[in-house]
Amino acid sequence: MTATPAASPACMNSPADPSRRGFLFNSTAAVIGGSVAATLAHSRSVHAAGTEKPLKVALIGCGGRGTGAAVNAMRADKNVKLTALADAFPDQVTHCRQVLSRQLGEQFAVPPEQEFSGFDAYKQVMASDADVVLLCTPPHFRPAHLRAAVEAGKHIFCEKPVAVDAPGVRHVLASSEMAKSKNLNLVSGLCWRYDLGVKETMKQIQDGAIGDIVAIQENYLTGTLWHRGRKPEWSEMEYQTRNWLYFTWLSGDHNVEQHIHSLDKAMWLMNDQPPASCFGLGGRQVRTSEEWGNIYDHHAVCYEWANGVKCFAFTRQQAGCSNQTEDFVMGTKGSAQILKNEVTSGEKKWRYRGDKPSMYDLEHVELFKAIRSGETINNGTYMSYSTLLAIMGRMATYTGQNITWDAALSSQEVLGPSKYEWGKIDVPTVAMPGVTKFV
Ligand SMILES: NC(=O)c1ccc[n+]([C@@H]2O[C@H](COP(=O)([O-])OP(=O)(O)OC[C@H]3O[C@@H](n4cnc5c(N)ncnc54)[C@H](O)[C@@H]3O)[C@@H](O)[C@H]2O)c1
Repeated sequence: MTATPAASPACMNSPADPSRRGFLFNSTAAVIGGSVAATLAHSRSVHAAGTEKPLKVALIGCGGRGTGAAVNAMRADKNVKLTALADAFPDQVTHCRQVLSRQLGEQFAVPPEQEFSGFDAYKQVMASDADVVLLCTPPHFRPAHLRAAVEAGKHIFCEKPVAVDAPGVRHVLASSEMAKSKNLNLVSGLCWRYDLGVKETMKQIQDGAIGDIVAIQENYLTGTLWHRGRKPEWSEMEYQTRNWLYFTWLSGDHNVEQHIHSLDKAMWLMNDQPPASCFGLGGRQVRTSEEWGNIYDHHAVCYEWANGVKCFAFTRQQAGCSNQTEDFVMGTKGSAQILKNEVTSGEKKWRYRGDKPSMYDLEHVELFKAIRSGETINNGTYMSYSTLLAIMGRMATYTGQNITWDAALSSQEVLGPSKYEWGKIDVPTVAMPGVTKFV
């Protein structure tokens, strides 16, 4: 996708390049919020089951979400301690320690020798005695970190998206199968799958409340996100890694990084069966300057399934526009809105009126419950497919071509540099529909 004919070779290596992350890609195959009370009720039932083994948790990626995920994990099970922190940058580790040591009390048990930094920090976590790892870096690094976690026999909480390119998705699918064979839990950070209201609304639809699904509309229309500026002492690699949202090789573009939450609900509605193909329009009208890297600021993608169902998916990150995040589902007998938790029309209108504990807490409640009960959760397939759905949409908007699921899944495009080290790295070019080639 991003690779225009003039695209940076350092950022978009050919899959044939033997120096490329071969180990990684040759496989074929701080919102915390919510009801603490409800979570603790779950937690007590976990302890009532009688398995009181203290569990050790390590965090990889000590930014906003990682810090939040560590809190969610500690709230989910009181017999758990945070024992290691790892990040590309030492200052991020320090900041995370300051926040969590205050917030977690005795559950914060990270000695100085268990704080790691640098691109290889994750390897030291894998060599530690942690039982569970929280993978919360920018998505580019997820395939390598996930594989290392499975190989090290860790249970895993894995933030979304799980990759930025198809070789990464294939690698994650293979790691997920490895996790299954080792009875390791793999819980995805696609958090709406754990939200009680959303789950109930999905169940209503699956039980026939709106008849057969005819069409879906996904809106993720929002404003701008953070930018961390540029410091003179930062190399280009450091600048891009710190401002990872704006570089397709690191984030996948916002169609992947953020809109995946909506696209995942479309996949869920379609029973996680992939669409046949998609086409899309996109570009950057507002993000025209260098500080915004090479991602777009809007994408509109139409996905079509073999049975004729279409999903119209819109996402925008532009300030000063009207915003909406909602999933509209149209059926033969009615319609529903997923985030509103409502069957909005049809023979039997319905609205979810139950508890609303934090979905972020619930992800971890389920994870620790499974570890303690000996059951195994594996969200590997849906987290990979939803990531590919988002990547496929980006491929369509970047190239201007129709993209089939099969072509997307077998794409050979590998995004990112051939090695990770602080220093020079090319600034990737912005994709141009009609010029940028599908690889
Ligand atoms: N589920 C959700 O609702 C949700 C919300 C926010 C973010 N996220 C996801 O969580 C992940 C992190 O997002 P964030 O908002 O915390 O970003 P962030 O920038 O605040 O944190 C990312 C951290 O990872 C570190 N990092 C970068 N490269 C690394 C590497 N190679 N090894 C170790 N550490 C590295 C960064 O220094 C930073 O501290 C992303 O995948 C994002 O999409 C999910």
